Amino acid sequence: MEPRDIDGDLTEILISEEQIRARLAEMSRQIEVDYAGTDLLLVGVLKGAVMVMADLARELHHPVTMDWMAVSSYGSGTQSSGVVRILKDLDTDLSGRNVLIVEDIIDSGLTLSWLLANLKTRGPASIEICALLRKPDAARVDIDVKYVGFNIPNQFVVGYGLDYDEKYRNLRSVGILAPHVYSTVAAAAL
Ligand code: XMP
Ligand code: MG
Repeated sequence: MEPRDIDGDLTEILISEEQIRARLAEMSRQIEVDYAGTDLLLVGVLKGAVMVMADLARELHHPVTMDWMAVSSYGSGTQSSGVVRILKDLDTDLSGRNVLIVEDIIDSGLTLSWLLANLKTRGPASIEICALLRKPDAARVDIDVKYVGFNIPNQFVVGYGLDYDEKYRNLRSVGILAPHVYSTVAAAAL
Protein backbone atom coordinates (compact mmCIF):
# COMPACT_ATOMS: atom_id res chain seq x y z
CA MET A 1 0.00 0.00 0.00
CA GLU A 2 0.93 3.65 -0.36
CA PRO A 3 1.07 6.40 2.27
CA ARG A 4 -2.26 7.74 0.97
CA ASP A 5 -3.89 4.45 2.01
CA ILE A 6 -3.16 5.25 5.68
CA ASP A 7 -3.82 8.94 5.48
CA GLY A 8 -2.84 10.76 8.65
CA ASP A 9 -0.95 7.92 10.33
CA LEU A 10 2.46 9.16 9.15
CA THR A 11 4.05 12.51 9.93
CA GLU A 12 6.58 12.07 7.15
CA ILE A 13 7.68 9.67 4.41
CA LEU A 14 11.29 9.11 5.35
CA ILE A 15 12.45 6.79 2.55
CA SER A 16 10.58 6.21 -0.68
CA GLU A 17 10.12 2.95 -2.50
CA GLU A 18 12.49 4.17 -5.23
CA GLN A 19 15.18 5.11 -2.70
CA ILE A 20 14.92 1.68 -1.08
CA ARG A 21 15.19 -0.06 -4.45
CA ALA A 22 18.20 2.01 -5.51
CA ARG A 23 20.02 1.50 -2.22
CA LEU A 24 19.39 -2.26 -2.20
CA ALA A 25 20.86 -2.41 -5.70
CA GLU A 26 24.02 -0.62 -4.52
CA MET A 27 24.33 -2.89 -1.51
CA SER A 28 23.81 -5.95 -3.70
CA ARG A 29 26.66 -4.95 -6.01
CA GLN A 30 28.95 -4.74 -2.96
CA ILE A 31 27.74 -8.10 -1.60
CA GLU A 32 28.32 -9.73 -5.00
CA VAL A 33 31.94 -8.53 -4.94
CA ASP A 34 32.52 -9.51 -1.32
CA TYR A 35 31.10 -13.03 -1.71
CA ALA A 36 32.28 -13.74 -5.28
CA GLY A 37 32.91 -17.44 -5.72
CA THR A 38 31.62 -18.41 -2.29
CA ASP A 39 28.40 -19.82 -0.95
CA LEU A 40 26.10 -17.42 0.84
CA LEU A 41 23.35 -18.12 3.34
CA LEU A 42 20.98 -15.24 4.05
CA VAL A 43 19.41 -15.41 7.50
CA GLY A 44 16.32 -13.25 7.78
CA VAL A 45 14.88 -12.16 11.09
CA LEU A 46 11.11 -12.50 11.10
CA LYS A 47 8.88 -10.75 10.62
CA GLY A 48 10.35 -7.33 9.88
CA ALA A 49 13.03 -8.49 7.45
CA VAL A 50 10.63 -10.20 5.05
CA MET A 51 10.52 -7.32 2.55
CA VAL A 52 14.23 -6.52 2.57
CA MET A 53 15.07 -10.23 2.30
CA ALA A 54 12.74 -10.70 -0.66
CA ASP A 55 14.04 -7.68 -2.54
CA LEU A 56 17.73 -8.10 -1.67
CA ALA A 57 17.76 -11.80 -2.57
CA ARG A 58 16.14 -11.11 -5.95
CA GLU A 59 18.45 -8.18 -6.67
CA LEU A 60 21.59 -10.28 -6.06
CA HIS A 61 23.30 -11.80 -9.10
CA HIS A 62 24.62 -14.54 -6.85
CA PRO A 63 23.08 -17.84 -5.79
CA VAL A 64 21.95 -17.78 -2.17
CA THR A 65 20.10 -20.00 0.23
CA MET A 66 17.71 -18.44 2.70
CA ASP A 67 16.66 -19.36 6.20
CA TRP A 68 14.67 -17.58 8.89
CA MET A 69 14.70 -16.99 12.60
CA ALA A 70 12.06 -15.44 14.78
CA VAL A 71 13.09 -13.84 18.03
CA SER A 72 11.22 -11.84 20.57
CA SER A 73 12.90 -9.06 22.49
CA TYR A 74 11.10 -8.10 25.63
CA GLY A 75 10.80 -4.52 26.64
CA SER A 76 8.31 -1.88 27.48
CA GLY A 77 6.51 0.01 24.76
CA THR A 78 8.71 0.64 21.76
CA GLN A 79 11.98 0.02 23.64
CA SER A 80 14.03 -3.17 23.30
CA SER A 81 15.40 -4.77 26.48
CA GLY A 82 18.06 -7.09 25.07
CA VAL A 83 16.36 -10.09 26.71
CA VAL A 84 15.84 -12.30 23.71
CA ARG A 85 13.94 -15.54 23.23
CA ILE A 86 14.10 -17.71 20.09
CA LEU A 87 10.58 -18.29 18.78
CA LYS A 88 11.71 -20.08 15.62
CA ASP A 89 15.23 -21.37 15.12
CA LEU A 90 17.08 -21.97 11.85
CA ASP A 91 16.62 -25.23 9.95
CA THR A 92 20.17 -24.91 8.59
CA ASP A 93 23.44 -26.14 10.11
CA LEU A 94 25.73 -23.09 10.07
CA SER A 95 29.05 -24.91 10.31
CA GLY A 96 31.36 -23.76 7.54
CA ARG A 97 28.75 -21.48 6.00
CA ASN A 98 29.10 -17.82 5.04
CA VAL A 99 26.20 -16.23 6.88
CA LEU A 100 24.71 -12.83 6.22
CA ILE A 101 22.07 -11.78 8.74
CA VAL A 102 19.40 -9.68 7.05
CA GLU A 103 17.61 -7.24 9.32
CA ASP A 104 15.06 -4.52 8.87
CA ILE A 105 16.36 -2.13 11.50
CA ILE A 106 19.01 -1.77 14.17
CA ASP A 107 17.78 0.38 17.01
CA SER A 108 19.55 -0.19 20.35
CA GLY A 109 21.43 -3.06 18.74
CA LEU A 110 20.67 -5.30 21.72
CA THR A 111 18.66 -7.89 19.77
CA LEU A 112 21.23 -8.20 17.04
CA SER A 113 24.22 -8.39 19.36
CA TRP A 114 22.53 -11.27 21.17
CA LEU A 115 21.71 -12.96 17.86
CA LEU A 116 25.23 -12.50 16.55
CA ALA A 117 26.75 -14.06 19.67
CA ASN A 118 24.31 -16.97 19.44
CA LEU A 119 24.97 -17.71 15.77
CA LYS A 120 28.75 -17.39 16.18
CA THR A 121 28.72 -20.39 18.53
CA ARG A 122 27.43 -22.54 15.65
CA GLY A 123 30.70 -22.52 13.72
CA PRO A 124 30.01 -20.45 10.60
CA ALA A 125 32.95 -19.72 8.27
CA SER A 126 31.95 -16.05 8.41
CA ILE A 127 29.09 -13.99 9.74
CA GLU A 128 28.13 -10.45 8.77
CA ILE A 129 25.10 -8.19 9.08
CA CYS A 130 23.05 -6.38 6.48
CA ALA A 131 20.42 -3.96 7.79
CA LEU A 132 18.22 -1.68 5.74
CA LEU A 133 17.95 0.90 8.53
CA ARG A 134 20.02 1.91 11.53
CA LYS A 135 19.38 4.50 14.24
CA PRO A 136 22.89 5.62 15.26
CA ASP A 137 21.60 7.82 18.08
CA ALA A 138 19.81 4.88 19.72
CA ALA A 139 22.81 2.53 19.83
CA ARG A 140 23.44 0.96 23.22
CA VAL A 141 25.98 -1.59 22.01
CA ASP A 142 28.61 -1.28 19.37
CA ILE A 143 27.98 -3.74 16.53
CA ASP A 144 29.98 -4.01 13.37
CA VAL A 145 27.36 -3.82 10.60
CA LYS A 146 28.94 -4.46 7.22
CA TYR A 147 26.03 -3.29 5.05
CA VAL A 148 23.71 -0.47 6.13
CA GLY A 149 21.04 0.94 3.87
CA PHE A 150 20.18 4.19 5.60
CA ASN A 151 21.02 5.84 8.90
CA ILE A 152 17.83 7.38 10.24
CA PRO A 153 16.84 9.63 13.14
CA ASN A 154 15.86 8.14 16.48
CA GLN A 155 12.13 8.02 15.77
CA PHE A 156 9.69 5.15 15.48
CA VAL A 157 9.28 4.16 11.84
CA VAL A 158 6.95 1.79 10.03
CA GLY A 159 6.59 0.30 6.58
CA TYR A 160 8.54 -2.02 4.29
CA GLY A 161 8.23 -4.86 6.83
CA LEU A 162 8.29 -2.70 9.95
CA ASP A 163 5.13 -2.72 12.00
CA TYR A 164 3.36 -0.99 14.75
CA ASP A 165 1.05 -3.46 16.47
CA GLU A 166 1.42 -5.71 13.38
CA LYS A 167 0.14 -2.97 11.08
CA TYR A 168 1.84 -1.02 8.27
CA ARG A 169 4.19 -3.85 7.23
CA ASN A 170 2.83 -3.73 3.66
CA LEU A 171 3.51 -0.03 3.20
CA ARG A 172 5.90 0.29 0.24
CA SER A 173 7.93 3.12 1.77
CA VAL A 174 9.29 3.84 5.26
CA GLY A 175 7.63 6.58 7.25
CA ILE A 176 7.59 8.14 10.68
CA LEU A 177 4.55 7.06 12.63
CA ALA A 178 2.42 9.90 13.93
CA PRO A 179 2.47 10.01 17.75
CA HIS A 180 -1.32 9.99 17.96
CA VAL A 181 -1.31 6.42 16.62
CA TYR A 182 0.73 4.94 19.48
CA SER A 183 0.18 7.31 22.35
CA THR A 184 -2.92 5.39 23.47
CA VAL A 185 -1.54 1.85 23.17
CA ALA A 186 1.34 0.48 25.25
CA ALA A 187 2.16 -2.44 22.98
CA ALA A 188 5.64 -3.85 22.54
CA ALA A 189 7.01 -3.84 19.02
CA LEU A 190 8.54 -7.06 17.78
P1 XMP B 1 16.96 -3.28 18.93
O1 XMP B 1 18.10 -2.97 17.99
O2 XMP B 1 16.65 -2.10 19.82
O3 XMP B 1 15.66 -3.51 18.04
O4 XMP B 1 17.20 -4.51 19.77
C1 XMP B 1 14.93 -4.67 18.12
C2 XMP B 1 13.75 -4.71 17.19
O5 XMP B 1 12.85 -3.69 17.54
C3 XMP B 1 12.10 -3.35 16.42
N1 XMP B 1 12.22 -1.91 16.16
C4 XMP B 1 11.36 -1.20 15.43
N2 XMP B 1 10.24 -1.57 14.77
N3 XMP B 1 9.94 0.64 14.06
C5 XMP B 1 9.54 -0.63 14.09
O6 XMP B 1 8.52 -0.96 13.49
C6 XMP B 1 11.06 1.10 14.69
O7 XMP B 1 11.37 2.29 14.62
C7 XMP B 1 11.80 0.12 15.42
N4 XMP B 1 12.94 0.18 16.15
C8 XMP B 1 13.16 -1.08 16.59
C9 XMP B 1 12.64 -4.15 15.26
O8 XMP B 1 11.90 -5.35 15.09
C10 XMP B 1 14.04 -4.50 15.73
O9 XMP B 1 14.53 -5.65 15.07
MG1 MG C 1 13.46 -6.93 13.55
